[in-house]
Amino acid sequence: MSQSSSKSQGYDFTSLPNSLEEFWMPFTPQKMFKKDPRYMVSADGMFYKDQHGREILDGCAGLWCVNAGHNKKRIVDAIKQQAEQLDFTSNFQMSTSTAFKAASRLVSAFPEPYSHVFFCNSGSEAVDTALKIALGYHRMRGEGTRQVLIGRERAYHGVGFGGISVGGIPYNRAMFGSILPKVDHMRHTHDLDRNRFSKGQPEHGVELAEDLERIIQLHDPQNVAAVIVEPVSGSTGVLPPPKGYLKRLREIADKYGILLIFDEVVTAFGRMGSITSAEYFGVMPDLICTAKGLTNAAVPMGAVFCRKGIYEAFMNGPEYGFGFMHGYTYSGHPLAAAAALATLDTYQEEKIFENAAKMMPIWEDAIHSLKDKPFVEDIRNCGIIAGIEVTKVAGDDYGARARELFLKCYEKGLMVRYTGNNIALSPPLILDQANIDQIVTTIGEALHTLS
Ligand SMILES: Cc1ncc(COP(=O)(O)O)c(C=O)c1O
Repeated sequence: MSQSSSKSQGYDFTSLPNSLEEFWMPFTPQKMFKKDPRYMVSADGMFYKDQHGREILDGCAGLWCVNAGHNKKRIVDAIKQQAEQLDFTSNFQMSTSTAFKAASRLVSAFPEPYSHVFFCNSGSEAVDTALKIALGYHRMRGEGTRQVLIGRERAYHGVGFGGISVGGIPYNRAMFGSILPKVDHMRHTHDLDRNRFSKGQPEHGVELAEDLERIIQLHDPQNVAAVIVEPVSGSTGVLPPPKGYLKRLREIADKYGILLIFDEVVTAFGRMGSITSAEYFGVMPDLICTAKGLTNAAVPMGAVFCRKGIYEAFMNGPEYGFGFMHGYTYSGHPLAAAAALATLDTYQEEKIFENAAKMMPIWEDAIHSLKDKPFVEDIRNCGIIAGIEVTKVAGDDYGARARELFLKCYEKGLMVRYTGNNIALSPPLILDQANIDQIVTTIGEALHTLS
C-alpha cells in the first residue's frame, strides 16, 4: 500500500486561525486587514462563502483568473487523479505525458501563428520568460545588440525584476531602485478629457502609438529588442486600447524588426470572448504571456506562446545544446498541466467563451448605467472587464474612496477589487443576467453610501 492515503487526513481547512501575525500578506494593508479579516471558506460557481456563512458574489473571478467559475468538478478531479498517479517530476531532461498533452492541446486551441509554448508558474514569470526569449532570440540570430525593452506607463507586468522594469506603476517600482537599465516607456493611453465614459475602445489616442517609433529612434533600432503591452491594462484601473492603437504598434514593431509582446495574463482565456484578445483586436503579437485563466487558478501556472520561427531560432546548435538557458523547477508541473487540460475541456464543452461573447454587450450597457451615480468620474469596459473610476478625495494618494467603495460592496455581498481611484470588475465568464443585475445594483447602492 502506498504511504499516502486518499482518505482525509483530518485537516481542518475551515476553522479560523489562532494567529494572524506570521502571514505577511501580498499587496495588502496588513494592519487594516488583520483588524477585520475577510476569510473565504468555500466557493462554488459565481459565489464564495465567507467565515460568517454569507454568500459573496465574486465580481473579480478571484483575481481575474477563475474564468470558468469556482470549484469546477472536472478540474478538481483531474488534479486529484494526476496527484494520485504521479505527484511530481521535473521537466528538466525528463517529463510527463501530461505536460506534452497540455502543450499540444493549448497550441492547437490558440490561433495561428503560435507554434510552441513555454511553461512557468505565474504571470510574473511569464513576463520575465517572454523578455528573456526576446533578448535570446535576437542574440541567437546574431543581433545581440538588441537589448532595449520598451514598456508603457501605468502597465502592470507582475513583480519580477523584468516585470517591474517594463511596468509603469510608480508605487511598484519606487521601493526597489532603478532596476533593469536598458528600459524605456511609452506614454499611457488614459485620456479622461477626450475619452470619458467611452464604451469599449476609446476613439482618441491612436497617435500615442507613435511614441514607440520615437523611442526606437532614440535608442537606435539596432539596439531595441521588444515592446510589451497589456492589450487592455487591467491592474491600473482598466484601460482599453484606443481604436487602431495596437495595430499601429504592430506596424512599427515590424518596420524595425522588434518583437511585439502582449501580456495577456488577464485578457486571455475568454475575457474578450476568445482564447486570446489578439483575435478580438485583430493584431497578432510575436509572444503572448498568459497565466490566471490557463488553469482556472486551481493550480498556479503561466505560459508563454511563441509565434512560428521563434523556437527554431534557438534550435540551431548541436543536438545536446540547451538552446534557451531558462526554466523553473515547476515548469509544466504535472498537477498544473492536468488542470490546464481539464480547464480547456471545460471552456470548450461548456461553451464558456461563447457565453462571455454573448454577455459582453449586456455587461457594457449595465455597467455604463452607473454613469450618473455619485462620485463616478469615468466608466471603462472591454470584454467582460470593467473599471469604475471615482473622484479622488482631495490630498489622498491611497485610493481612499475606491477602498471605501470596495468595503461597502463587500458588506453588501459583492467582491470587487480596488486599485488607485478605481474599482475593477472581472467576474467569472459563466455570469448571467441575474449576476450582472446584482453587481450593478450593489455598486449603485454602495456609491450612494460613500462619505
Ligand atoms: C497583466 C498582468 N501581467 C502579469 C501579472 C502577474 O501575474 P502573477 O500575479 O501571477 O505573477 C498580472 C497580475 O495581475 C497581470 O495583470
